[in-house]
Amino acid sequence: MVIGMGLLDLNLHNKLPEKFRADFPALSNSVYLDSAATALKPQTMIDTTVEYYAHNTATAQRSLHQDALKVTTAISEARQSVAKFIHSQSSHQIVWTRGTTESINIIAQSYARPLLQADDEIIVSELEHHSNLLPWLIVAKQTGAKVIKWTADVNELSSLLSPKTKIVSITQMSNVTGFCPDLVKISQLVHQHNAILVVDGAQGVVHQPIDVEKLDIDFYAFSAHKLYGPTGLGVLYGKQHLLEQMDVWQGGGKMLKNTTFSDFEVEDLPYKFEAGTQNIAGILGFKATLDWLKKWDEAQLNCYITQLANYAESKLSELNHIQFYSVKNSPIISFNMHNIHHNDIAILLSEQNIAIRTGGLCAKPLMDKLGCHGVIRISIMPYNNQQDIDSFVTALKNAIEVLT
Ligand SMILES: Cc1ncc(COP(=O)(O)O)c(C=O)c1O
Repeated sequence: MVIGMGLLDLNLHNKLPEKFRADFPALSNSVYLDSAATALKPQTMIDTTVEYYAHNTATAQRSLHQDALKVTTAISEARQSVAKFIHSQSSHQIVWTRGTTESINIIAQSYARPLLQADDEIIVSELEHHSNLLPWLIVAKQTGAKVIKWTADVNELSSLLSPKTKIVSITQMSNVTGFCPDLVKISQLVHQHNAILVVDGAQGVVHQPIDVEKLDIDFYAFSAHKLYGPTGLGVLYGKQHLLEQMDVWQGGGKMLKNTTFSDFEVEDLPYKFEAGTQNIAGILGFKATLDWLKKWDEAQLNCYITQLANYAESKLSELNHIQFYSVKNSPIISFNMHNIHHNDIAILLSEQNIAIRTGGLCAKPLMDKLGCHGVIRISIMPYNNQQDIDSFVTALKNAIEVLT
């Protein structure tokens, strides 16, 4: 795509976004350019959740009345939908969690903690969201292992990997710069060194097709809410033999086959990681979301986003004293305006009904590297359109005028 592309090119794809937009009731509230924080929800996901609470409330895997059996079946179908979506061989490798954060903490505590010894190494890129750094810092403190900083450059990885490396953890797409590391090469290198690869798919799962089998990813984590789904629900994917060898995460109902007062036998996968009542409404809503997503041509949506991002970048580039931090044509665009505090921009944009994100974006070490305390971020989804970008740029210009 070429910078400076005009209205004509963008209009070619406008029919698709208009149909897509029609499914999102919240679009009537504001110009929403904060989808990397959480995506808006399609009507079908809202309806399914309401339907569960209004008419079909029942628990799963426990009671034997009809509604409960229906819910149990629906949850297992939802697990299969997720498995298909990320190309996992079996739905037993899909564990429901509260989100990416919980998924990575489970890997750190249930897989890594029993494995790691003093001076073992965990390589983590400096691009990471706190969710993919703090769990490793915590387990390193607990075990005496070391967290090694990596730029996310494949060539550098070769020089960092050693027999001490047990885990390499990397984002699929940076929530600050939009950078997508080369997972094919990274996976090959990591496995040549007998380490395991953890991928944080929180942002990437939204914008790239993912095939955990082909990429030979050992653990993959993502959150439903960034993929048009409900909050409070996430997924942990793991290779079967790794999940089997892992300690249980939490104790409680339905993670056990049998228990006495003094001991217990754990349930099979994936249930051994799912103690307690799950986010049933969320899981059903997410299944509806994934079914709805199938209606759309993913390549066409991604192409449209690239065009819109390109348009936004070209409009922003016209502003004086702008510094970009994001890679070109990414749905995530981060920048700063010289001598203006990012939060002042957010407040003035909010007054003009434009929703964006500013601040450290839960990536403080990356902010340190970029030499700033925070950034201004817009994030683009297929429900955004050219008018959204135009309104945002006009509002930004107004804000700059007030602040300078
Ligand atoms: C790259 C990345 N990883 C992890 C997370 C954490 O996701 P959650 O808060 O849904 O667990 C986020 C959220 O912004 C993210 O952008």
